[in-house]
Amino acid sequence: MKHLIDPHGGKLINSIGEGPVRDYLIERIPGMEKVTLNKREISDLEMISIGAFSPLEGFMGQKDYNSVLENNRLASGCPWTIPITLAVSKDDASKYALDNDVALCDQNGEVMGVLYLDEKYDYDREKEAQVVYGTTDIAHPGVAALYEKGDVLLAGNVVMINRPDHGEIEGVLLDPKETRLLFHYKGWSSVVAFQTRNPIHRAHEYIQKCALETVDGLLLHPLVGATKKDDIPADVRIECYRIILEKYYPKNRTVMSVFPAAMRYAGPKEAILHAIARKNYGCTHFIVGRDHAGVANYYGTYDAQKIFDEFKPEEIGIIPLKFEHAFYCKECDGMATGKTCPHGKESHVFLSGTKVRGMLSEGKDLPEEFTRPEVAQILMKASRGVA
Ligand code: ADX
Repeated sequence: MKHLIDPHGGKLINSIGEGPVRDYLIERIPGMEKVTLNKREISDLEMISIGAFSPLEGFMGQKDYNSVLENNRLASGCPWTIPITLAVSKDDASKYALDNDVALCDQNGEVMGVLYLDEKYDYDREKEAQVVYGTTDIAHPGVAALYEKGDVLLAGNVVMINRPDHGEIEGVLLDPKETRLLFHYKGWSSVVAFQTRNPIHRAHEYIQKCALETVDGLLLHPLVGATKKDDIPADVRIECYRIILEKYYPKNRTVMSVFPAAMRYAGPKEAILHAIARKNYGCTHFIVGRDHAGVANYYGTYDAQKIFDEFKPEEIGIIPLKFEHAFYCKECDGMATGKTCPHGKESHVFLSGTKVRGMLSEGKDLPEEFTRPEVAQILMKASRGVA
C-alpha cells in the first residue's frame, strides 16, 4: 500500500501486545516488580505503543534524553524536542533490576504494559524545565508536572497489554495505522491535521477551512490526554465538535479522531512534537496558529511557528501551515487576520480562554462572532452542570 508520508524515523512502531504475546506476558506478571505510572506516563505508554511517538519504542534512555535537551534531536539525529520518560523515587529505584521485565501499572494497580529495563539514570529537573518549558516557574503546569516526578528515570522498550479506558470517546479513537489506512482508501493525497485542547471557536473553524481549501482532507485531532484542571473536559469538547461537524463541515473531506496524548503546555517544543506525531498518523500538513500549546504568557505569540525554522523541512517531513491570530471583524463582517483585515482592534471580536471561562461561570452568553450558538449552548450546559 502506498502511504502519503513516511513515519518519523522511517518505521511505524507497533508494540501493542496481543494474542500469544499478551498471554505470555500476563502469565509472567506475578514474578515482575511493579511500578505505578501517573496519568501522563500511561498516556505516553499508549502513544509509544500505537506508534504515535515513532520512532520511540520505549521510555528514553540517557543518550536520547541528553541529546533531546542539548540538540532537539534523538541520539540518532532524528528531530525530537521533549523527553518522554518514566520516573520513580530514589528509594524505589533500587528494587528494579536491569535486564528484567517490570510491570507498568495504573493508579488502581491494573497492569497496562511491560517495560524491559535497560537503564536507570539520574536527571536534572531544573535543567529539563528550563530547556523544554523555557522556565522553572512551578506556576507553569508542565513544570509543575515535571517537578512532581521521582528522582530516577527507568528506560527501555515497552509493550502495552491493556489499553487505557477512554470511555465514550473510544468511538472516535483511531490509531496511526488506522488513519493511514483511512486516508489511503479515501484517496486523499494531502491531509492537514488540527491539534486542539479547547472547544471549537470561529477562529479555529476559520483556519481549519482555510487549510482545507488547499489540501484533500482535514483530520480534526482533539487532544484527550491529561490537561490542566481549568481546561474544558474532553467529552464536552467532542460533543461540540460532533454538532459542528454535522452542520458546517463537508463529511467527505473531514475525519475526527482523538489524540490520546497528555498536554505539556511546552509551546514551541510541543508544536514540534505535535507535528511529528501527526506525521505518524499519516498527515502531510499541520496547522500551527497563534501561541500553539502555550499557556499564560510564557511564550511569544509566534514562537511555535518560528521553531520550525531550526530544522530542515525534510527532517520534520510534515509541512507546518502557519496562521496569524484570527478574529471576527465587524467591519469586514467575517473572519480575518492582520494579513487580510485593514481595520483596528476596536472592530475585532476575540475572547481569551480565561475570558470565556469567566463568562460561562457568570452564565453570560458567548457572542456569536466568537463561537457558534450550538457550541455556546453545550458549553453553558456543561458549566452549569459543574457549578
Ligand atoms: S492548543 O494548546 O491545542 O494549541 P487551542 O486548542 O486553542 O490550543 O489551539 C489549537 C490550534 O489553533 C493551535 O494551532 C493554535 O495556535 C490555533 N489557534 C487557536 N486560536 C487561534 C486564533 N484566534 N487565531 C489563530 N490560531 C489560533
